Amino acid sequence: QQGDPVEAPAFLAASYACQRNTPQPGHNTLLTAALSVLAESAELNGDEGRGLAFRRSEGLLRSLDRRVQGLAELRGLPCLGDHSRRVIQDLLENGVSSEVEETKSSPRYKAMKLLTGIFGVGVKTAKRWFTEGICSLAQLETSGHSLNAAQQAGVCYYTDLNQPVSREEADAVSVMVEGVVHSVLPGARVTLAGGFRRGKMSGHDVDFLITHPDEGKEEGLIHKIIACLESRGLLLYQQNTRNTYRESAKGAGRPSSSMDRFERCFSIFKLTNDSSYTADNGTGSGGRPWRAVRVDLVVSPISQFAFALLGWTGSKLFERETRRWAVRERSMSLSSHALYDRNQERYLRASSEEEIFAHLGLEYVSPTGRNA
Ligand code: CTP
Ligand code: MN
Ligand code: MN
Ligand code: MN
Repeated sequence: QQGDPVEAPAFLAASYACQRNTPQPGHNTLLTAALSVLAESAELNGDEGRGLAFRRSEGLLRSLDRRVQGLAELRGLPCLGDHSRRVIQDLLENGVSSEVEETKSSPRYKAMKLLTGIFGVGVKTAKRWFTEGICSLAQLETSGHSLNAAQQAGVCYYTDLNQPVSREEADAVSVMVEGVVHSVLPGARVTLAGGFRRGKMSGHDVDFLITHPDEGKEEGLIHKIIACLESRGLLLYQQNTRNTYRESAKGAGRPSSSMDRFERCFSIFKLTNDSSYTADNGTGSGGRPWRAVRVDLVVSPISQFAFALLGWTGSKLFERETRRWAVRERSMSLSSHALYDRNQERYLRASSEEEIFAHLGLEYVSPTGRNA
């Protein structure tokens, strides 16, 4: 019997995450979970560049269609820096990475994760509190810091909001949202976005994009939705913003930050454990017959819907990479509102995600392949 003379082919991988199909959860979860910790730790330190480098490594490994068993298999692959390769080598040889273990058990990482786990608390605030020695909710409470409304809700529903939302719960929230939207604006369309659209089985929130086939009918819709949700007792907290997006002749419709300008509402829903939903974890903390769930509602005019859908489906890395591809490889700027061609000095219209990929010269990646 002759041994197989053919060497295993090297993995092929493109360098932008938006050029790859990345299903969930991937074949290298030990490696991707570890790199994700290092990325998160860098992000929690405010080191965006370092965080992005680890996220790109993580994204590359997520896209591979088989399990990596030796470092040699990764030769020539993009996105993997020396640091990531060292961590991967440790994991492949020893099953653990000392750097990742040290990071996870460091007081700073633990405190920052806990504090940023409060809805309404970002890295800057958490950092300030940690510097003052605050490492727990109890310490935050006795510190005398006054919390804004979002943070108060975040502390109040901390346990519920840090318990992953299941598919079943997301479906139950969909039923609630559709009922309310259709009652305030018949003909409006509700689309599940975010991680659940990518096929994830759980998430930290549920994201919805809402539009109406007649342009203009969606104006002011978020306020009607909120009023109706409130009248039905479904909202525990909400914070909304109105639409501030305008196209400009110079393509400045490209927002300066990654924030978009749609009418939207970051909210906390009261999900009741009734017949319409049958998850096992059907109660909130303290044995209440309901639990708190984070819900994002975004309203888009139909003319921007394809861009909004692409932008709100994620993953975050997939979005960043698509925008980076657009600028660097096509001289275009992509946002959740529009695609602007800097060479032609005009906006490119699209009524589907497929058309946007085509404008960008990218092969279409379906939502379930965007889990970079
Ligand atoms: N997003 C955005 N602007 C924000 C918040 C989110 O454009 N202010 C986009 C993100 O870029 C992402 C999508 O909305 O593409 C969903 O974000 P999020 O809910 O945070 O993440 P998910 O991928 O849904 O993951 P999770 O399951 O943790 O919710
Ligand atoms: Mn390094
Ligand atoms: Mn989400
Ligand atoms: Mn969200």
